[in-house]
Amino acid sequence: MGRLDGKVALISGGARGIGAAIARRFLAEGARAVVGDVLDDDGARLLAELGDGVRYVHLDVTKPADWEAAVSEAVTAFGGLSVLVNNAGIVNFGRIDEYPHEQWARIIDVNLTGVFNGIKAAAPALAKASASSIINVSSIAGLRGYESLAGYTASKFGVRGLTKAAALDLGRDGTRVNSVHPGVIQTPMTEGMTFDTGHVPLHRIGQPTEIADLAVYLAGDESSFVTGAEFVIDGGETAGTVVTPAG
Ligand SMILES: NC(=O)c1ccc[n+]([C@@H]2O[C@H](COP(=O)([O-])OP(=O)(O)OC[C@H]3O[C@@H](n4cnc5c(N)ncnc54)[C@H](O)[C@@H]3O)[C@@H](O)[C@H]2O)c1
Repeated sequence: MGRLDGKVALISGGARGIGAAIARRFLAEGARAVVGDVLDDDGARLLAELGDGVRYVHLDVTKPADWEAAVSEAVTAFGGLSVLVNNAGIVNFGRIDEYPHEQWARIIDVNLTGVFNGIKAAAPALAKASASSIINVSSIAGLRGYESLAGYTASKFGVRGLTKAAALDLGRDGTRVNSVHPGVIQTPMTEGMTFDTGHVPLHRIGQPTEIADLAVYLAGDESSFVTGAEFVIDGGETAGTVVTPAG
């Protein structure tokens, strides 16, 4: 018996990183999944790795028509949709007074409007499932500010707020909506960046599989009374600052 037997998931940005780790864990727990991304080569590789229980679709989260096609694929291939993971995201950097308008517009479009598009397209299919769950991947940058990350921070705060609003709107349909707030995770997004983890209580960065473990809980019926909530998964980074004792 898998913890997600009978569930059908749609995972955006699932071709690599956290999304791919979620797809692997969901399959291992008995779910079937449609993975959507703009990186079609990575998507094809994941499909070859995971086999029968997975479909890959080209999904640009900024395009409502792509979302409609992805939801249709889940319904056609697997008979319905019970879980939506809004995971796709980008990051860009710059001091706010030098931050180009185009960068701002792009990151809000992908990270925030992309999540809205996904919820809107998937909600009718999710309402038909006996129990359904939406997992929105925000960040600890959706809980506090970070220097030179104005667009990313604003988009991730937006995802946190959108999660609350959607939880209120969709609760009557039996759809739960929660946000996940990872700290620094080792993925292609953070490749080549250096992080000082001295102030983090667990003194390390996280792995995509650790986010996937939380996603299994939120996708499944073990979390049946959980909605509109925030799940921080950051090695304790936002709990406070650890100071290395002198001497
Ligand atoms: N890695 C971290 O430290 C970290 C921390 C907190 C939150 N997050 C969030 O986790 C999520 C996954 O990030 P990751 O670390 O796995 O990064 P990643 O870059 O490895 O994966 C992101 C995926 O999203 C896809 N994507 C980008 N734009 C898209 C679009 N318009 N339509 C569809 N797919 C698109 C990318 O192609 C990629 O496959 C993101 O929302 C990110 O903001 C990551």
